Amino acid sequence: RKKAKAISYAKIIWFGEHSVVYGKPAIALPLYNVDVHTNLTTETSGQTIDCRYFSGPIDEMVDNLKGVSVLIHQLLTIFNAQKINFHLKIESKIPSERGMGSSAATAVAIVRVFFKLFEAPLTRNRLLELANIEEKITHGNPSGLDTATASSEVPVWFVRHQLNEQIDFNLSNAFMVIADSGIKGKTGEAVSMVHDRLIDEPETATPLINQLGQIAKAARQALSSTDEVKLGKLMTQSQYDLAKLGVSTKALNAFCQIAIKNGALGAKLTGSGLGGCMISITQNQVAAQKVATALRKAGATQTWIQPFKNYNFSI
Ligand code: MEV
Repeated sequence: RKKAKAISYAKIIWFGEHSVVYGKPAIALPLYNVDVHTNLTTETSGQTIDCRYFSGPIDEMVDNLKGVSVLIHQLLTIFNAQKINFHLKIESKIPSERGMGSSAATAVAIVRVFFKLFEAPLTRNRLLELANIEEKITHGNPSGLDTATASSEVPVWFVRHQLNEQIDFNLSNAFMVIADSGIKGKTGEAVSMVHDRLIDEPETATPLINQLGQIAKAARQALSSTDEVKLGKLMTQSQYDLAKLGVSTKALNAFCQIAIKNGALGAKLTGSGLGGCMISITQNQVAAQKVATALRKAGATQTWIQPFKNYNFSI
């Protein structure tokens, strides 16, 4: 083939960021309307890429795209196509470094588009294994949750090295409100900070990680019984634990309080923290709009409102 296209999604971690790195379960959602599109063509000369941070030959790519460049070279090696001409265009609606999985989604869409170009079958495991090459370079010690969610059509229940299970639930009236603090999240820094705390202060940090895992389990229970109020409470409880771990920020704490004051059932940071986004749950759309408006007034640079009913389909 001479041309191929592929997509992937932004991810929102609902429960279990950080604790997922230590083998606890997590629940994450793909965001269908916040996506990445890749377009690959061989009707060109040279090997070039066009994306948010860089436009030009792949061998001149900037340092913070090292993961992408290593991944592309790996894909060319797999297809014994090191010498082909290609142009790869990456269009992303995902803000970068905001805990929405922009790097994972980019890696997933790149792997997919090369496999499509070469008309090669791609299993889910192979897709994740390859996309995680980029994630390891970009983030150090990723759990794999981000790539698992960016490549999923449905919510995922994820346990590192074990499970990547699709889950089904029915929250027909509830809405999710996401607010961007406008501050870059620092995944690598946040992950190593939690790692250091577990070594330096295990007596306080270990129970927090365990509790975050217990909350994810309780959330799955609440999802199966459509208990939105309980889900909200569990989100707020996660936020307390994440703040105690040291990964929240003043802005994120303030957003959570504003969301709850304006009617949200619960709120927490999402992703690695130290910047990035907050998510909250509301009973209905009117409540979601009220929360989003209050958050923008309080300084959120962008908000997204997503109905949970989008996720109502059976596997
Ligand atoms: C980052 O999106 C989520 C973390 O749990 C790290 C990881 O799972 O690799 C903080």
